[in-house]
Parts: sequence; C-alpha cells; structure tokens
Amino acid sequence: MSDGMGTAIVTGAARGIGRGIVERLVFEGFRVVALDRLESVQDLADSLRAAGGNIEHEIVDIRDRDAIAGVMDKHAPIDVIVNNAAITDTHSFDELTEDHFREAFDINTVGTFVVAQEGARRMRNGGRIVNIASRSFAGAPNMGHYVASKTAVVGLTRAMAIDLSPRDIRVNAIAPGVVDTEMLHYMTPEMQKKMLSFQLLGRIGQPEDIARAVSFLASPENRYITGHVLVVDGGRSLGHGQLPPEESPYV
Ligand SMILES: NC(=O)c1ccc[n+]([C@@H]2O[C@H](COP(=O)([O-])OP(=O)(O)OC[C@H]3O[C@@H](n4cnc5c(N)ncnc54)[C@H](O)[C@@H]3O)[C@@H](O)[C@H]2O)c1
Repeated sequence: MSDGMGTAIVTGAARGIGRGIVERLVFEGFRVVALDRLESVQDLADSLRAAGGNIEHEIVDIRDRDAIAGVMDKHAPIDVIVNNAAITDTHSFDELTEDHFREAFDINTVGTFVVAQEGARRMRNGGRIVNIASRSFAGAPNMGHYVASKTAVVGLTRAMAIDLSPRDIRVNAIAPGVVDTEMLHYMTPEMQKKMLSFQLLGRIGQPEDIARAVSFLASPENRYITGHVLVVDGGRSLGHGQLPPEESPYV
C-alpha cells in the first residue's frame, strides 16, 4: 500500500545522485523504494527509516528483468520511477571497444527501458517517470559509448512520453552537468581544477541540485510537462560555453 505522496522507485540509490534523490523524495513524503546492486543501499534505507522516513530497499541489478518485475509486483501500485542507475568510464575513441559500448547500453539504456516498462505496467494513471540522462548528450570527450547511451535515454524519454500519454504518465529527463560523486573520482586533481574553471556558477553540482529538479518533475503537481529534457548544469551549456566571463576573450 502506498500513502502520502505515493510510491517512488529510485534506481542507483546507494550513493551519489541517487542517494540525494532518495533523501529528497523521502523528505517530501514519498514512500521510497531504493534500488541498487550495492548492498550498502540497506545502510541508507536503515538510516532514513530511523529518522522517520518511509523507505524500503531492494538489492537488484537493473539488467535482471525477472528480479525487477518481482520488485515492482511487491511494491505496486507505483506513482514515480526515477531511472538513475548508470555506469561511466573514459576511453579515447581509438581505444573504445564493442564491449565498452555493449556494457554502457546494457545498463544505461536497456536497464532504463526495463525498469520503465516493468514499472509503467504497475503504475496508476497519472504517474511520472524521470530518467537521468547527462548533459553529455550534447557531446563530451573520450566517452563515445556513454554519450551515445545517454543520448539514447533522451530519445527513449521522448518516445515513452508519447506512448504513455494515453495513461497520463508524464515522462521527462534530466541532463546533469558535472556533479560531485564517486563517478568523478577517476579525475586527477588537475582535471578537476580544469573542470571547475568551466563552471559558470563557480562550483560543480551537488547531488541535491539534481534531486530538487527530480522532485519538481516527479511531483503530482507536474501535470503538463512531458517529453522534456531539463539541463541542470549550473549554466555550463550557455553561450560560447567553457570559460567564466572574466577569462573570456569575448565581450
Ligand atoms: N556525476 C556526474 O557528474 C553525472 C553527470 C551527468 C549525469 N550523471 C548521471 O547521474 C546518475 C548517477 O550518477 P552518480 O554520479 O551518482 O554515479 P555513481 O556511480 O556514484 O552511482 C551510480 C549508482 O548506480 C548503481 N548501479 C550501477 N549499475 C547498476 C545496475 N546495473 N543495477 C543496479 N544499480 C546499478 C551503482 O551501484 C551506484 O550506486 C547516472 O545516471 C549518471 O550517468 C552523473
């Protein structure tokens, strides 16, 4: 049984942006089901439950359709799905392999599809699906597999918004810029410094910056936004792009 704001499924919930999304949705009164393949998702659920939150967890890989279907059956009816789980790494174009591509698509794109499809089947009319894509759908260096998988998530979002519209299920994507999570730990301090210099608002994003945007699109009050991609990148995509104004040669 769901109550309050309804039941929200969040994938990739154990850490990073997913954790921030879970914390936000619990705070707002959703009954949250936190999914991850990492067992540490239980620690998050335990701590939020101890603080009075309405939260459950499931340790599951989003590539396992049968397991996902079982989780959805257990927690139906579902009101919100947040497809956040994904992987990334970097390879020069010359070093990219078919296996890199297949793994990125298997988790980031097909996994998103499986969770959305199994979840939508158990959704009430008027549900909301939020897919976490990436600002890199506009292009990013040394991650052709990831960029392609996230661009596919944007396409899937638009297609699902059309196909699920008869049931009034609103489907949107968020395209985060650089966010401070373990996903970025592959960067050297020099890379991080350079990355920071590209941020228009002088800082990289925090998980709660993305979580607030998710909560806006996941809210029952979001009645008329569907098929949209909301870029949440602190302005990095604006204008000529990469340098803060004081260092820019342009006026
Ligand atoms: N951090 C960034 O700068 C950034 C930028 C743009 C987009 N994003 C996107 O935001 C989302 C979250 O990223 P993050 O930085 O928090 O990453 P993260 O690596 O810190 O967390 C991802 C979580 O997803 C889980 N996960 C991965 N594969 C899974 C699978 N097959 N089944 C179940 N769980 C799985 C991981 O265990 C992990 O807990 C991702 O979709 C990512 O592509 C991140």
